[in-house]
Amino acid sequence: MPLTVTDLRKDYPTRGEPLRVLAGASLSLADGDALAITGPSGSGKSTLLHILGTLDRPTSGRVELDGQDPFTLDDAALAKFRNERIGFVFQDHHLLPQFNVLENVLVPTLVNPNRDAAALEAHARSLLERVGLAARLEHRPAELSGGERQRVALARALIQKPKLVLADEPTGNLDRHTAQTIGDLLLELHRQAGTILVAVTHSQDLAKSFPARAEMTDGRLERSA
Ligand SMILES: Nc1ncnc2c1ncn2[C@@H]1O[C@H](COP(=O)(O)OP(=O)(O)OP(=O)(O)O)[C@@H](O)[C@H]1O
Ligand SMILES: [Mg+2]
Repeated sequence: MPLTVTDLRKDYPTRGEPLRVLAGASLSLADGDALAITGPSGSGKSTLLHILGTLDRPTSGRVELDGQDPFTLDDAALAKFRNERIGFVFQDHHLLPQFNVLENVLVPTLVNPNRDAAALEAHARSLLERVGLAARLEHRPAELSGGERQRVALARALIQKPKLVLADEPTGNLDRHTAQTIGDLLLELHRQAGTILVAVTHSQDLAKSFPARAEMTDGRLERSA
């Protein structure tokens, strides 16, 4: 499978017994799959997403994206892998305040000195048009609504044509109506781009709009209806 997660464990050290957060989480997703993960606060959803995003390492277990285990890479290769293969959407938009909308979408591309700047800008403009922000390209984040900022974050997540998009509470800071719009947009962009999408959410509405769901229970993922 293009994304295979096998028996993932994550312990956080404490002064006493280590805190076991993931206790054998497994998952496999095919190209074009979208999965919503729900579960109680503190159950390890963000921990799992951080590991899938290679921002944190598991205590044991294996992650494979397109047959590659990213945790075998050295730091530089891992950073490149993350930048090119994985798109992130967070609850808080994480946009850079000094850059305008178009520039923010292009930020992930700046690390590559051999980039085709013209093609990337055209792609950024097209993504921003698809998220309804063609008339806001020069605005800075402070000059946007919360929903608009999250639209920019969606476009930025897709600029590198990632294999995998990870979203942690992507609608958590939005009112119900805006949350629905952003959730629909996230799924629509996912279908257009053919990415694998994994979203963590407390919103039953958002989870229900996904084609598949899993619940984090006792440090493992259980597929739910
Ligand atoms: N860096 C860390 N060091 C120690 N413990 C941590 C660390 N990060 C998370 N934890 C603990 O791991 C558990 C799982 O945290 P995590 O953030 O993955 O939960 P979550 O399911 O995303 O919760 P929420 O729905 O509230 O966002 C929590 O009990 C938390 O206190
Ligand atoms: Mg969390």
